[in-house]
Amino acid sequence: MKFFVDTAEIEAIAELNDLGMVDGVTTNPSLIAKSGRDILEVTKEICAMVDGPVSAEVVALEADAMIAEGRKLAEIADNIAVKVPLTWDGLKACKTLTDEGRMVNVTLCFSANQALLAAKAGATFISPFIGRLDDLNTDGLELIADIREIYDNYGFETQILAASIRSANHMSECAKIGADVATAPPAVIKAMANHVLTDKGLAGFMADVEKAGIKIL
Ligand code: E4P
Repeated sequence: MKFFVDTAEIEAIAELNDLGMVDGVTTNPSLIAKSGRDILEVTKEICAMVDGPVSAEVVALEADAMIAEGRKLAEIADNIAVKVPLTWDGLKACKTLTDEGRMVNVTLCFSANQALLAAKAGATFISPFIGRLDDLNTDGLELIADIREIYDNYGFETQILAASIRSANHMSECAKIGADVATAPPAVIKAMANHVLTDKGLAGFMADVEKAGIKIL
């Protein structure tokens, strides 16, 4: 499973990228606003730092305007994936932009039918939002499994990009289901390293190091 990092914070991306943990980046208007940076400027910086796809989201609501914005975003770098919302206009924009050879990430997906339409429109990535479904007391992971089954039934090449990930558990569950990509905030990716028994075991080893005066260097 590829790891995308879900942030527009340059330092956080750099830290994970140096460890080889970043296969791509996703941003959205809220993450850009949080960064306090100009969208074109910060996106360009991220694209230069990361080899994989960097999703940058359009802000228009009507297809022609989304297409114009998508073309402008795609000029930033070759690794831009234009992100469009899963509306009828977004699907039209997806079809046009993918026909032009651009990567498109269709976002705000909350149902298997929406994912099916995005695949038919040629989307490079579909972004089902797990956490926001969980917030409504439904099972976001079930949607990932449903889309995996449907795409596999028909050999759709659209990649399932599990989004709105809130926990390390979401990451391992997505990997078990077979999501192609999971995008998560830096804190969630780092939390994947944590286990209470690792901490406990290490504390025991360190106590014995101290007791026996073990030195290596
Ligand atoms: C990424 O592509 C999505 O925009 C993001 O994962 C949404 O996450 P949230 O539901 O935590 O805002």
